[in-house]
Amino acid sequence: MENSLNSPGREDDGNAKTQKDRQVTEEEWLQKWQTNNIGFHNEEIHPLLRKYLDMLLNGRSGLKIFVPLCGKAIEMKWLADMGHHVLGVEISESALKDFFAEQNLSFTEETVPEIPGAKLFKSLSGNISLYCCSIFDLTSTVIGKCNGIWDRGSLVAVNPCDRERYANLLLSLMDRKCCCLLVTCSYDASKHKGPPFYVPDSEVNSLFGKCCDIKCLEKKDGLLERHKKWGIDYFCEIIYAIVLK
Ligand SMILES: C[S@@+](CC[C@H](N)C(=O)[O-])C[C@H]1O[C@@H](n2cnc3c(N)ncnc32)[C@H](O)[C@@H]1O
Repeated sequence: MENSLNSPGREDDGNAKTQKDRQVTEEEWLQKWQTNNIGFHNEEIHPLLRKYLDMLLNGRSGLKIFVPLCGKAIEMKWLADMGHHVLGVEISESALKDFFAEQNLSFTEETVPEIPGAKLFKSLSGNISLYCCSIFDLTSTVIGKCNGIWDRGSLVAVNPCDRERYANLLLSLMDRKCCCLLVTCSYDASKHKGPPFYVPDSEVNSLFGKCCDIKCLEKKDGLLERHKKWGIDYFCEIIYAIVLK
């Protein structure tokens, strides 16, 4: 991996092992949405996406950008307004409906013939398509290949036992020139059970390193009051640019 920046994140793989058996069920995620326990949702465009957008786009326009485990991330509207086609996937229907309502967008609802029980919500202009199902039900046959991926709060929300499956799915959705901007976090995992889960550099490398070039772009202090309530005293956000070799 290029630029393995050591500061201010404190790399400690042993620390991450304390979370390896933790599992959050789909019901628990739905419950978080139902009770509005969604501290992970940001009301502002993520500053690291603003800063590194050019790496995602790499001079291209009209991209198909995939946002895994999208919640109601406002970045989806921001990217669509730039002329890209945004594809998201999220298990919570209320999160997706909130997204369209809060962004003042009308939408249509369809079934997805390939995925029993799944729904597809599409903005009327057709440039935002959000699948309501588990990400593990998606394949490149259903959504095709993507030209860019914005993964914030996604890999770090996937149960540690499913990370490899998740990474392999992302890899299968990347077209030759796709750039995935991945944001992970680093904190003392012995003090908070997650999510978000702590994903060390070494794991990003083992998940994506065989097929991809991985560049660690920045490690940034991101400690907020809500993190301090978890009993931790540092929280770093780390952003990587991942492209196929
Ligand atoms: C930490 S939130 C991140 C949301 C979003 N990426 C953002 O930046 O605001 C993780 C989201 O993943 C959703 N989720 C969890 N497991 C999922 C799965 N297997 N398939 C699709 N969505 C899932 C949860 O409902 C939750 O909205």
